[in-house]
This record gives sequence, structure tokens and C-alpha cells, in this order.
Amino acid sequence: MTDASHDRLLIIDFGSQVTQLIARRLRELNVYCEIHPFNAVTDAFLDDFAPRAVILSGGPSSVFAQGAPMPPARVFDLGVPILGICYGQQVMMHVLGGQVERGHGTAEFGRAYVTPSDGRLDLLQGWFETDREQVWMSHGDHVSKLAPGFAVYGTSPNAPFAITADTTRHFYAVQFHPEVHHTPNGARLYENFVRIAGFKGDWTMGAYREEAIARIREQVGDAKVICGLSGGVDSSVAAVLIHEAIGDQLTCVFVDHGLLRKGEAEEVVTMFRDNYNMPLIHADEQDLFLGELDGVSDPETKRKIIGKLFIDVFQKHAREVGDATFLAQGTLYPDVIESVSFSGGPSVTIKSHHNVGGLPEKMGLKLVEPLRELFKDEVRALGRELGLPPSFIGRHPFPGPGLAIRCPGEITREKLAILREADAVYIDQIRKHGLYDDIWQAFVAILPVRTVGVMGDGRTYDFACALRAVTSVDGMTADYFPFTHEFLGETATRIINEVPGINRVTYDITSKPPGTIEWE
Ligand code: XMP
Repeated sequence: MTDASHDRLLIIDFGSQVTQLIARRLRELNVYCEIHPFNAVTDAFLDDFAPRAVILSGGPSSVFAQGAPMPPARVFDLGVPILGICYGQQVMMHVLGGQVERGHGTAEFGRAYVTPSDGRLDLLQGWFETDREQVWMSHGDHVSKLAPGFAVYGTSPNAPFAITADTTRHFYAVQFHPEVHHTPNGARLYENFVRIAGFKGDWTMGAYREEAIARIREQVGDAKVICGLSGGVDSSVAAVLIHEAIGDQLTCVFVDHGLLRKGEAEEVVTMFRDNYNMPLIHADEQDLFLGELDGVSDPETKRKIIGKLFIDVFQKHAREVGDATFLAQGTLYPDVIESVSFSGGPSVTIKSHHNVGGLPEKMGLKLVEPLRELFKDEVRALGRELGLPPSFIGRHPFPGPGLAIRCPGEITREKLAILREADAVYIDQIRKHGLYDDIWQAFVAILPVRTVGVMGDGRTYDFACALRAVTSVDGMTADYFPFTHEFLGETATRIINEVPGINRVTYDITSKPPGTIEWE
């Protein structure tokens, strides 16, 4: 939990797919908030957390379901403003003496238009400048009778209680989702809500940096910390922050598994060892990794081998640090949020993403995770605050197993060398055309086929490659990037001319789903 000197907003999660977006909207307003599942919010928790305001999220459940998720009644006695969204609205009415009806025939999913009722509401400042507002509805049940003290301030054709409030208690309840893009003016409601609740909007990155440094010092004391550095944004920002807090008590271990991009190892080592003067172990383990991967073509087997070796190598080099008692990790907030599962069973594993889970217990290490409260773009903002070069902060994500999963089928040193060169040309093209920051991730995959071509007067029989570039918000879904034909043509020509070993270039136009971003 962050410094208690900041006012805090509590989001009680009832399992909506978009609860994280509520947190995003609030953080954009410099308001500190945390998401907690409804069943973790006990009376004692409320006392400890002491929220200045509460938001009840949406969720897939029905208040009629057996064991329907409910917040503790105490929430409504805290004397702080409350905003209920969709299921959160129904919960408020249900608990506070109104009525909810099952949605026979009145379920509403998608775009709807809300028009104002009589009476002005502080929550709606800046709304209804035209006579209606577009909102996003997604509900089965609906409120049929308001709880005492509540009045209606907006209606839609299928939701007579689209916007409701008890202005004396500052309880607000809406049927739609103001946090999604399809409610274009939704951010205004959050802005008004936090203003009404009296938030100062003082949760800035500068303040976060100071607090995080103080917390790291307090947690670590004079113990030693080791950090696995990948060169990605998260581990880089974590390392620089911890180094600022405890200096040379921190040692970073950078594992070169031979599956990095062109010039990547040198870049990372130069940046941290030379520019930041950070103790850094550069573990050159290319032969070990590539040896173990020899002849392996199954994607999951590749990931397992790499994951296991990474841990072995990390442990081996961590021993050089001797008596480290802490392990630093760049864990982010989305990894931490305990999501509420109503479906019961575990979701299907598409790919076993490699992480260093299990390492701390195995090595008897405690964790330092200074980014646990941040979203990815906040980590980037912290990186800028810490003075990390923009080229590092804006880097596209790079998977732990590296080029291994961009080389479908068997990995050979020859293929890796060709892939590195092609990837470097592609990224250079993207940068030259000023497109790098518009793209979530771009890379080349070398395909396990050779194709026939003709160059000059001769026949070629070389590898084909696929270019991939996607836009995405979080890597969970993605669209292919709409390059122009000119860009694609110019890039293909450059790769074929500049990279011996490739004679055919394709562009992957698969979205995720049904594809995935990486090829394996
Ligand atoms: P996919 O391919 O699953 O990728 O659509 C989503 C995001 O995750 C990255 N990725 C990985 N990251 N270990 C990682 O650390 C992995 O095994 C792995 N597989 C995919 C991928 O680069 C994209 O950003």
C-alpha cells in the first residue's frame, strides 16, 4: 500500500472485465486507488484502508443469484461518496432498500443514449451539453425501484434509472460503464466524482518516486539485493529506482541466452554499467542455452528449457553476490490484482509465459517489487522521472524466450544470425518512417522454409521471413498495423538486398485473436 498521506479511493471488484479501466481513469486524474475483490473487503480492511471514496464495479452476477457478491454493509456507513456502476448500482439499490428486477426481455448490451431528467447533479457537470450522451450499457437485470433518498437524473430508452443519486449522502449509481471508450464523455463523471470526494490529485510520479525510495530503504535496510535485468522497461526502471535508493547494495544480473536482438547485450550493459555505474554481472551463457535448444522445435519445450536454464544461470551468478537476501522484480499492478473468478475453472493456457516464479522460495529470498502499484504507462512515466533515456523507455516489449519463439521450428545459429540482421533492418525502417511509437510491437520471424528466388542472373534458395507489427493496449488483443504498400515494398527490398540468407518477405496480417502476437 502506498503512503497513507495520500487520499485513497477503494474500488470494490465484482468481477467486471473492465474494472482495471476504472483504475486507469482515476490514475489519470492523479488519484491513488486500489482494486480489491468484494470478498476481501472486510470491516477490518475498510478501517485500515480508510478510503476517501468508494467505487462499486460492474460484474457478471445477478443480485438474485445464490450467494450473490455483496460488499460489507459497513461500506455504506463510512460517510464517504460512493459510485456504483452497473452491477454496483444494483447492489446499492438491493442493499439500500430499492428493487432490482430480472432482465426478462430488457437486457441491454452496447451503445445507448442517455437524456437528462429534471434537476441538476454535481456528478454530471460537463454532461448533456448536447441533449444526450452516448453510453455503453451491458446489463441483464435492471433497477425497478429506487432506494429511499435516491432520485433519477438521466434515462435511456431501456434504462429508466440510467443515472441516479442520493445527493445528501453523495451516493451515485449509474447503469452504464463510464470507464469504457464507448462512453466518450465518461472520464468527466470520474473527474466530477473525485472532485466531489475532495481528492487533491496529488498522486504524481515525482511523489511516487520519493515514497518508493523511502519504502525500499526501509524494507531492505543494509541487506543486499539482486535483480534480473532483461533490458525491458519494467526491470530497467525497477533497477534504476532501487539503485537510487540503496546504491551498490544492488547487483544486477543480465543473462545473455544467445537469443537477443542485434546489439542488445552491448546496449544494456553499456547503459547500466557505464552510464549508471551499477554493479552488473554480464552472464554470457549463449553456448549453454543454444546447446540445450539444439534440435528442439516444439514451442512449449523451448519455453520450458529456457525458463529452467534461466533460473539455473541466475542462481549460479547470484551466488557471486554472496549474501543477497532480496530479489528485485519488475512486477506490475495488472499482475497483482487478484481477479474475481466466477467461472470456477482455470482458463486455458495458450502459452506458458516464462517468468521467474518459484525462484524466491527456492533461493530463500525475499521480494522487492517497487512497481507493484503501477500500470505499464505509469512505469514509463516513472522511467522518465528517473531520467532513463527515451529510447529505453519507449522500447517495444520483448519476450523472455527472445528470438527462440521468432524462429519457428529448430533454432540454429545460422537462422538466428539471419533473423537478427533482418529484424535490425525492419526496425530501422520503422524508426526512419517515424512509426515506432505508433506500434505496440514489431519484429521479424524467420520461417522454417526455404524458397526459390532469382537475384541477378542466378537462382537463390534461401529462407522466407514474416514481418509482424501490431497495435495493442495490453498485449491481450491486437490488430495488425496498417503499413502502406510503399513502406512494405521498400522494407522487403531492403531486407532482401541487405540480408544474405533471405529471399522472400511476407507481412503477417493476423489479428489477435485468432492469432497471437508471437509466432510461437
Ligand atoms: P502472445 O504471443 O501470447 O504475446 O500474443 C503477448 C505478449 O507477451 C509476450 N510473450 C512473452 N513474454 N515470455 C515472455 O516474457 C514468453 O514466453 C512470451 N510469449 C509471448 C509477447 O512478446 C507479447 O508482448
